[in-house]
Amino acid sequence: MNAGAIVVVGSINVDLTAHTRRHPRPGETLHGTGGQMLPGGKGANQAVAAARMGGDVRMIGAVGTDAQAQVGLAGLRAAGVDLDGVREVEGPTGLAIVTVAEDGENPIVVIAGANASVDAAQITAAKDVIAASSIVVCQGEIPREGIEALRALVTGRFLHKPAPVMELDPEALRASDPLVVNEHEAALVLAQLTPGTEMPETPEQIVGALREAGIASVVLTLGAQGSLVADADCTHRIPAARVTAVDTTGAGDAFIGALAVGLARGEPLPAAARLASQVGAFAATGHGAQPSCPSTEDELPRLPEASA
Ligand code: RIB
Repeated sequence: MNAGAIVVVGSINVDLTAHTRRHPRPGETLHGTGGQMLPGGKGANQAVAAARMGGDVRMIGAVGTDAQAQVGLAGLRAAGVDLDGVREVEGPTGLAIVTVAEDGENPIVVIAGANASVDAAQITAAKDVIAASSIVVCQGEIPREGIEALRALVTGRFLHKPAPVMELDPEALRASDPLVVNEHEAALVLAQLTPGTEMPETPEQIVGALREAGIASVVLTLGAQGSLVADADCTHRIPAARVTAVDTTGAGDAFIGALAVGLARGEPLPAAARLASQVGAFAATGHGAQPSCPSTEDELPRLPEASA
């Protein structure tokens, strides 16, 4: 195994972002600003964040044959991510339509495009790279069969952020180590692993239920309340850094990228989650998913003292 190597298997998009004072109501037309096409996609954002934080990163994914492909790849190239596992398929590159309003909310509509072709065959073809990586990262913007094929090839840690959550083989969910979820995603995962049981109420109960359902380690993200991290050794509350957010697009992906870097360095999960919390907070202070990712040169926001 290539100790410290990270492979991100996932989406590559172009983000078309509109900035508005508030979100339009159904049937309403609003003026906005912005309109640039910027590189995005949860997978690509995570790979860029990890590389900018010093990770040794490979990307497995797909872009289309349109001009947007070069936009989608630009951030990955600039960050030095290895793109040997990215293929070009006939048709459009993935597209995300993002509306960023002054309240900080940013609903996103994603059109999969080439990401829909990241199937079991493509992932199996990269089996040597996957097996040689100490951290394998994936999300929910590629097909189910791709994710299920992936987990069977992982020999290191499978850092799984099921966003958006899809119906998966329970063994693919249980292979997550860690599973990174917010409370909404946690409810959907628990509904798959323990159907018919009630959603636990407190963060501690939620991570407990996920671990009892067979997941080795969990990072439950709680927005301004930070995150709750649990594995066989401990349960830790990680605080959130206090920053003035201007655009949260991709901040969660920056969190994942940094978490991967910490784990790839061999840090315990709570230490990696502290770095992730700082990097995610930094990313929310700038515009765009990838341009706002910090590098190792940047001063990261400090975290308040953690409660137990
Ligand atoms: O998490 C943010 C990302 O979600 C955006 O970059 C967009 O492409 C969607 O995939």
